[in-house]
Amino acid sequence: MTDPTTSGGRPSASPSSSASTRRTFLAGTTAGVVTAGLSVPLVHAAGSSTIKVGLVGCGGRGSGAAVQTLTADSGTRLVAVADAFQDRIDEQLPVIKGSAVGERVDVPKDRQYAGFDAYKHVIDQVDLVLLTTPPHFRPIHLEYAVSKGVHAFVEKPMAVDGPGLRKFLEAVKQSKAKGLSLVNGFCWRYFPPRRELMKRVLEGQIGDVVAIETTYNSQGVWDPRKKREECSSDMEYQMRNWYYYCWLSGDHIVEQAVHGIDTMGWITGDIRPIRCSAVGGRQSRTDAKYGNIWDHFSVVYEYPNNVRGYHHCRHWVHTDVQVADFLLGSKGMADVFKPAITGENKWRYRGQRPDMYQVEHDEMYAAIRAGKPINNGEQAANSTLLALMGRTAAYTGRAVTPDMILNSKEDLSPPKYEFGPLMAPAIPVPGYTKFA
Ligand SMILES: NC(=O)c1ccc[n+]([C@@H]2O[C@H](COP(=O)([O-])OP(=O)(O)OC[C@H]3O[C@@H](n4cnc5c(N)ncnc54)[C@H](O)[C@@H]3O)[C@@H](O)[C@H]2O)c1
Repeated sequence: MTDPTTSGGRPSASPSSSASTRRTFLAGTTAGVVTAGLSVPLVHAAGSSTIKVGLVGCGGRGSGAAVQTLTADSGTRLVAVADAFQDRIDEQLPVIKGSAVGERVDVPKDRQYAGFDAYKHVIDQVDLVLLTTPPHFRPIHLEYAVSKGVHAFVEKPMAVDGPGLRKFLEAVKQSKAKGLSLVNGFCWRYFPPRRELMKRVLEGQIGDVVAIETTYNSQGVWDPRKKREECSSDMEYQMRNWYYYCWLSGDHIVEQAVHGIDTMGWITGDIRPIRCSAVGGRQSRTDAKYGNIWDHFSVVYEYPNNVRGYHHCRHWVHTDVQVADFLLGSKGMADVFKPAITGENKWRYRGQRPDMYQVEHDEMYAAIRAGKPINNGEQAANSTLLALMGRTAAYTGRAVTPDMILNSKEDLSPPKYEFGPLMAPAIPVPGYTKFA
C-alpha cells in the first residue's frame, strides 16, 4: 500500500532547524526538527564499515525502504528479513534483489523468518533495522531493537493506542540514551521544497499563523486481500487485511491521514494541542469485509493563543480526491503542497524536487557515519498522538486532551499473538463507544 500523494517512493523531508523566529503562539516551545547531535560514536556503524541491515515487514513500503537503504550507503548490506507470512517474503525479496542495488542483498533461506517472533531473529543479527509492518507492532519491535542496541528506521505511524504510544516513547528515551539512530517515516519532513516553505513560514513570512487546514480525502486503499475462507484462522484473516482493523492500522486517520496531521505538528513546533473535538463515521464503506474502521473523520484541534487546526479525511470511492494543506497567517497564506506563499511576501518554490524517501535514508546513513545519529522519535510520537486524539474524539463524541491518550488504558492488542480464533472487533458508535 502506498499513500496516494507519496506513491511509496517520491520526494521527502527531514525537519529543518528554523524555529528561531517562529510566531507568538509557538513561543517557548521546541522546534519541529530532527533531534540530531548525539555525539556518541557507534562502534558498529560509524566510519566506512559494513552496516548490516534487517527488514521487518516485507510489504510495499518495506521493499521500498530496503532499496532506499542500499542506495543511500554503499556499505549497507541487507542480511535478514522477517514477515508474518513467508509468501510476502517470497514476493518482495526478488523485488529488492532485482533493483539496481540488488547485489548487496544477501538473504539466504536461513535468514528469512516468518511469524510473530520473526522480528527478534532479524534484530538479533543486524546493526540497523527497517520497521515497516502495520503500526500495531511498531512499539513492540522498536522496544526490542533498542534493547539490542540496534539503529532503527520506523515507518509512520508509531502506535495505534495510548499504551502503544507510551511504549514507543519509552523506547525513544532509551534509544537516545544509547545514542542510537531513530529516523521516522514522516517523509514530507525530508522534502526540500516543503522544508523551504516551512522555514519561510516559521520566519514569519505569512505573519502569525492563526489556522491550519489539512485535508486527506482519498478514495481509499487496497480492497481486502483475502476472503475468510482463504485464511486458516481469524487471526490470519485480520492480519492479511490489516488496514481494516483498528487494532492493526489505527484506522485511516492514524495510518494515512497522519501525514497531513504531521504538517500541523511541524508548523506548531510539535507542541501538544489543548484538546480536540471531532465527527466521523462509516457511511460509504460499510460491508463487513471492511472490518471495523470508519471511512471519514473531521477534527478541530485547539492550540494555545486561539490557533486552530482543522483536519478532514475520508476514504470514499467515486468522490473527489483532495490532499492539500494550507497555513493561514495574518499576512498571507501558505499552500504547503505547491509549495507557495500568497499575500505580502509572495513566493513559489522553483528548485529541485528530489525523492523524499531517498533523502530520508541518505540523511540517516550520513548521520550514522558521522557518529551523530538522527533521533526524531519524539516528533513522530507527537504527530501520532494528534491522530489518536482525533480518532478517539470522533469515536466517542467527546472532547479529547493529549493526557487522555497518554494515560489511556485502552489497549487494542489481541489476547495473544497466535494464528487462531479472534473475534471481529466492534465498529465504534459515538455516544456508546467507551474510552478507558
Ligand atoms: N511514509 C509513507 O509515505 C508510507 C507509504 C506507505 C506505507 N507506509 C507505512 O508503512 C507501513 C507498511 O505499509 P505497507 O503499505 O508496506 O503495507 P503492506 O501490507 O504492503 O506490508 C506490511 C507487511 O508487514 C507484514 N507484517 C504484518 N505483521 C507483521 C509482524 N508482526 N511481523 C512481521 N511482519 C508483519 C505483513 O504481512 C506485510 O507483508 C504502514 O505503517 C504504513 O503506514 C508509509
